[in-house]
Amino acid sequence: SNGSVLVVGSLNMDLVAQVQDMPRIGETIIGHSFDRMMGGKGANQAVAAARLGARVAMIGCFGSDAFAGDMRSILAKERIETDGIRTVENVSTGTAMIMVDRHGDNSIIVAPGANRYLGPDDIERHTELFESSDVVVLQLEIPLETVLHSVAAARRFGKTVVFNPAPMQGLSEELLRDIDYLILNEVEAEELTGAPASEFDTLAKRLAALPCKHVVLTLGGDGAAYISGSEVVRYPAMKVHAVDTTGAGDSFIGAFASRLARGDDARDAVKYAIKVAAITVTKLGAQAALPTEEETKQFDLLWGAESR
Ligand code: RIB
Ligand code: NA
Repeated sequence: SNGSVLVVGSLNMDLVAQVQDMPRIGETIIGHSFDRMMGGKGANQAVAAARLGARVAMIGCFGSDAFAGDMRSILAKERIETDGIRTVENVSTGTAMIMVDRHGDNSIIVAPGANRYLGPDDIERHTELFESSDVVVLQLEIPLETVLHSVAAARRFGKTVVFNPAPMQGLSEELLRDIDYLILNEVEAEELTGAPASEFDTLAKRLAALPCKHVVLTLGGDGAAYISGSEVVRYPAMKVHAVDTTGAGDSFIGAFASRLARGDDARDAVKYAIKVAAITVTKLGAQAALPTEEETKQFDLLWGAESR
């Protein structure tokens, strides 16, 4: 079977401008392009998993503006189950203002809007979605209370919890203990452990000492590391030309979750996720750049790698 993924998280409309260089404080600059694309870490991870063949459901909140209607139909087109998404009246849908520079690097401001209203009640109302999933995926663009509630619900039904602490905030030992796979980037890892990202061995040791079961540290153009007890394995990335790195981490997480859900070994899931993230950075946009299973296979052919 393909496996089921439940994503509890944010939905944003991304307003993206491409610029030569980021503006400085007080500066006005002229950009190259403007695009309005669907984003939000939760939705990006959901779409990533769905395009790669997983059955996906999402729990989240839309506002009551025009963005919400567009987003619901986009999610439906991706065959994502949206019954768990609630419309909050008189509030705007989450919005992210994104600048992408000529190196493909970005700066993002998120105005959470309706995402702030996703509460424990929304979780209780949809426990059946937890029950029918294999893997539950969470990030931190929704209230922490709701995240804690979701982790508890996942535990109750014995589901695998994939947790992406982005944007990072203080995490309790209790929360970490309930996480099967903590997936984070170097900046988040540095913030969480206090170890400098430039010293890989120290960082890996600190991550290994966390109470969660396994850790996946994403390393951008350098691939990722799988850390589990005393096991630390690094997997390299394919060298690609980066156009826009927005959503690369999300594509990694969605891909990883889709593979875990269908029963793959976590290390194979990491290797697959690295490939999917590499494809994602070669195109503009977060969701717009997410590959299908078919595109992922073509990428393999291009790279001369064996198919999967
Ligand atoms: O991780 C990328 C995402 O972060 C963007 O799509 C934006 O919406 C913000 O949530
Ligand atoms: Na991209």
